[in-house]
Amino acid sequence: MLKNRKIVYNYFNKEKPVEVFEIKNEDFNDEIKKDRILIKILKAMIHPCDLGCASGYVNGIILPSVAGFEAIGEIINFSNELKNKFSIGQKVHVCSTHILGKWNVWQGIWSDYIILKKNQIIPIPLDISDNDALQLFVNVMTPFAMYKEMNLKNSDFILQTAANSVVGRVMIQLGKIYGFETINIVRNQESLTNLKESYGIENVYLYDGKNHNDIYFSIKKKYKKIKFVIDAVSGDLGKLCWKLLSPDGVFFSYGALSNDHNINVDIVSDLCRDNKTMKGWSIQGTWLRQKSNNTKLKMIDEIWNLFRSKKLILPPLGKSFNMEQFKEALLESMKPQKNGKITLNINSKKT
Ligand SMILES: NC(=O)c1ccc[n+]([C@@H]2O[C@H](COP(=O)([O-])OP(=O)(O)OC[C@H]3O[C@@H](n4cnc5c(N)ncnc54)[C@H](OP(=O)(O)O)[C@@H]3O)[C@@H](O)[C@H]2O)c1
Repeated sequence: MLKNRKIVYNYFNKEKPVEVFEIKNEDFNDEIKKDRILIKILKAMIHPCDLGCASGYVNGIILPSVAGFEAIGEIINFSNELKNKFSIGQKVHVCSTHILGKWNVWQGIWSDYIILKKNQIIPIPLDISDNDALQLFVNVMTPFAMYKEMNLKNSDFILQTAANSVVGRVMIQLGKIYGFETINIVRNQESLTNLKESYGIENVYLYDGKNHNDIYFSIKKKYKKIKFVIDAVSGDLGKLCWKLLSPDGVFFSYGALSNDHNINVDIVSDLCRDNKTMKGWSIQGTWLRQKSNNTKLKMIDEIWNLFRSKKLILPPLGKSFNMEQFKEALLESMKPQKNGKITLNINSKKT
C-alpha cells in the first residue's frame, strides 16, 4: 500500500467551479495486474478546461471524480510481461481522456499515483523537456489537430480569438511553419504588443468589448477571404467573428471563455445563402474518438520533431504550486494576463 493524495470533486458548480475541488488522502493499492503500469505523477498543468470540467461541461466524468486533464509522471513499476517495453524511471505523459484508443470514462490525474494500461500513456522521448511534454495534449495537439482538419493551403487566412492563449500562440507558430496566415484577436494591449514582437506578425487586433465596429470594418477591409474562424471566446466576440467569416467558410467553436455560450446564426442568410458552417470542436469529445492510433502517434511524432528543431517554442510556464496549494493555484490560473500557465507540483521539486 502507498500513501496517496488526490484532488477530487463530488459535484459540479457552474458559477464557482473552484469551490468543488478538495484534497483527499487514502491508502493506494499498488498491486500490479497484467498489462498494468504504476506511475508516480510528477507535475500537472492547470488548464481553463480543468475549470470547465468542474463546471460540468465535459462529457465522460462520473462523480465523484479525480480532477485534472494532463500531467507527466514516471514509471515506478509494471507487470512482468511489459519488461521489454518500459523501464523504471521512464517519463510518460498521462491524460484523463487517454490519447490512444477511444476513451469512455474520464480518469483524472491530479493524484500521487495512478495505475494505467500500456496504451493509456505516451512515453516521452529522452530529448524532450518535461515542460514541453507536459503540454502535449491540450495546448499542442488541439491546435495541431484543428490545423490538420482545416486542411489549410498556403496563404489561407484563419481568424482566431484568445490569440494570446497557448493554443493561440501555437496556432500562430503553425501558420509560420506550414504557410497559412493567422489574424489574431486579443483582449489587451500588452498581449497585442507581445504577440507582434514575439512572432514578428502584424495581424493582431485588440477587442475591448466596445470597438465592435472598428474591428469589423478594419478586418473586413483588409482581408478578402477568411476561410476559417477558430473561436474560444463565444458571445459578442464570437458573433463578430461569425460575421467576418467569408461565404463557404467554417467556424470552429472550441470554447466559451466569455461565459456567454450563444452565437446567433441566421439560417437563411448565413447558412442557406452564404453556405457558412458552424462546427463545435472538442479534441477529447470527438477528435480522440474518431482518429486511429496511427494518426495520433504520427501527430505526436511530428510534435516531438517540432520541439526538437525548435520550430515550435511553447511560452514559458508561469508560477507553480505544491499540491496542497491547489485552491491558490486554480485562482491564479483564472487571472487575466498571467505570466505563463500555472502548474501543480505533485511529486516534483518546486521550480
Ligand atoms: N475544445 C477543445 O478541444 C479545447 C482544447 C483545448 C483548449 N480549449 C479551450 O481553448 C481556450 C484556450 O485554452 P488554453 O489552454 O490555450 O488557455 P490559456 O493559455 O490558459 O489562455 C487563456 C486565454 O484566454 C484569454 N481569455 C480569458 N478569458 C477571456 C475572455 N473573457 N475574453 C477573451 N479572452 C479571454 C486570456 O487572455 P489574457 O491573456 O488577456 O489573460 C488568455 O490568453 C480555452 O477556452 C480552453 O477551454 C478547448
